[in-house]
Amino acid sequence: MTSVKEGLFISFEGIDGAGKSTHIDALVAAFKTQYGDSKVAKNVIQTREPGGTPLAEKLRQLILNDAMDALTESFLVFAARRDHLNLVIEPALARGDVVLSDRFTDATFAYQGGGRGFDLKTLSTLEQWTQQIRWLDANFTGKNDEETIRQPDLTIWFDLPPEIAAQRLAGARVPDKFEAQPVEFFRQVAAGYQKRMDDSPSRFAKINSNQSREAVWRDVLAAVKSRGFLA
Ligand code: TMP
Repeated sequence: MTSVKEGLFISFEGIDGAGKSTHIDALVAAFKTQYGDSKVAKNVIQTREPGGTPLAEKLRQLILNDAMDALTESFLVFAARRDHLNLVIEPALARGDVVLSDRFTDATFAYQGGGRGFDLKTLSTLEQWTQQIRWLDANFTGKNDEETIRQPDLTIWFDLPPEIAAQRLAGARVPDKFEAQPVEFFRQVAAGYQKRMDDSPSRFAKINSNQSREAVWRDVLAAVKSRGFLA
């Protein structure tokens, strides 16, 4: 499935309350400006997980609101991801588009693996099944024997101490199942993100989210520009 037309895939991660949203919107705008001003035809697609397709958005409602054990939760986030890859991410990358996703698989390793303490080997197996590029071949021909799995080209991790994230979230809205978790849960989630970063350091840009919005934006922009993704 790799081709010279291959697009760009960036994911955004962090504990609830880490302040990703405004920066994702701003980065989408920056990419749109870049491609709007150039002769290269590229769409910029903003999406999210769990979600991004009608089926995955239905699964999102269950994942965020219904009680279930960690394996069931993991099946559902990967099922949603599979549909998202098939219908949105892979077709977009094959066209050469830019995909900016609010969360991807690192969130599963952080929340289900770190937060819930679920078995990381099982999550790796589900990751292999869901993201193996040859199985994402649109026609399922099995002819593409590339063993690699789909991962973002860059993952921007907004890192914020859980106590501060909790203060930012307090009273903001009715919390969902995850937002209602205690600070200790988010400490484990953050440790889960750190482990994923340690396993793939070149894919990650860890941003200190405990600074002014302008300073965070400056760091986000620097991470993207230093990799040559924005001029
Ligand atoms: P959001 O509030 O940033 O849209 O994220 C939705 C929630 O779902 C957030 O609390 C993290 C959680 N989540 C998981 O537990 N596992 C996953 O794989 C993903 C993508 C999100």
